[in-house]
Amino acid sequence: MSDKDRKKIEQLRKDLQQHDHSYYVLDNPKVTDREYDRLMEQLKELEAKYPEWITPDSPTQRVGGAPAEGFDSVVHKAPMLSLDNTYNVEELRDFHNRVVKNLGTEDVEYVVELKIDGLGVSLFYEDDKFVRGATRGDGKTGEDITANLKTIRSIPLTIPMQKAGYKSMEVRGEVYMNRKGFGKLNQQREKDGEAPFANPRNAAAGSLRLLDSRITASRPLDIWVYNIGHLQGPEFQDQIAMLESLKQFGLRTNPNTRRCQSFGDIQKMIDEWQEKQATLDYDVDVLVIKVNSIAAQNKLGSTNKHPRWAAAFKYEAEEAETVVEDIRVQVGRTGSITPVAELTPVFVSGSTVSRATLHNEDEIARLDVRVGDKVIIIKAGEIIPKVVRVLKEKGKKRKPPFKMPKTCPECDSIIERPEGEAVWRCVNATCPAQLKERLLHF
Ligand code: IVH
Repeated sequence: MSDKDRKKIEQLRKDLQQHDHSYYVLDNPKVTDREYDRLMEQLKELEAKYPEWITPDSPTQRVGGAPAEGFDSVVHKAPMLSLDNTYNVEELRDFHNRVVKNLGTEDVEYVVELKIDGLGVSLFYEDDKFVRGATRGDGKTGEDITANLKTIRSIPLTIPMQKAGYKSMEVRGEVYMNRKGFGKLNQQREKDGEAPFANPRNAAAGSLRLLDSRITASRPLDIWVYNIGHLQGPEFQDQIAMLESLKQFGLRTNPNTRRCQSFGDIQKMIDEWQEKQATLDYDVDVLVIKVNSIAAQNKLGSTNKHPRWAAAFKYEAEEAETVVEDIRVQVGRTGSITPVAELTPVFVSGSTVSRATLHNEDEIARLDVRVGDKVIIIKAGEIIPKVVRVLKEKGKKRKPPFKMPKTCPECDSIIERPEGEAVWRCVNATCPAQLKERLLHF
């Protein structure tokens, strides 16, 4: 190999890595797609000439070859715990009081982060290289999904951590799919006659657990990193400094993280995000409140399930009481027949609700909801209102249980409930209700 070619390969890798960072992490591309492709082609040509020079962290190696047979197990260096949930300010204050008591001081600084609704993963870096990535699994042992994680362009394959004194580091984060990418993917799946994913989280999970990383590469996945599970090198002072270093290393950290110097600051974040979560282009499970100081985190420690230094906060769903005036079925664009409760209009979480989904036949049976019943409905965040329980009134004569129609309410064709599924479907592809829904969707 000529010295010139070796230098050229190194330069191209460096440039491409920089462009990936600008494009996928900073959201601020420095070159056109065409220029990027040109650099990638040059690198591929040189690597074809000198295959012995291909390294696993080369930008050409993000999309692997043949599908794997299965996933190897990975034992996490430190367990991947889950978070204890709180549902209102009082519960969160209890958490804060426990922290204060255990630390023996009122002076506690927190960091509030978004709780990303995706899949927890671990990224292991050694000598500046991304060497292994794993799912959370049962918290102790996960699956080796390195090939799939490498297809996510915002995960750097090399990071400058040795310069900062780190020999190895296990970074943790959440892989997710944004709402736009999820919508597009499902549209394509329906066109191809494949079952759509129920939500972005399922789509991300399904995409990460594919044995063929070439398919994973085609899925719009991304990551936010938020923690370190294990490190060989200097301890970080606090969570904020740790996130800042991860950002400096080129990893993608969420810009909405805030330092909170008092419980009041946390409450402000809670008030702010109740509305603001709808403006994000990805789903959140709302907030995570963490003690900022790493020394304090270590002092607080963990139970065998949750850290004592962090808690999740979810908004309690607002409930309202109303009456089911009727139960109707609706035909969706794929022929799915969904029962819907028509309600006496009631004001909840900022709007008037007059319908709520009953999902399917099994859900109606589980709730035992009938026309004329008094019910409790909830509306939380972005969720469509749903009936959560029936208020049974003593001595009141109830209407008979609801029965699914035998035929499609729109076109009278037979309807089917495929084995193992909860949903009835109209089998008539030219059903006017389906056509209308498809047209509306289009
Ligand atoms: S910290 C030991 N921060 O939520 C605490 N987790 O229920 C480690 N998650 O398994 C987690 N966003 O997959 C943390 N900003 C965030 C998060 C986050 C999402 C997930 C993570 C974890 C689960 C805990």
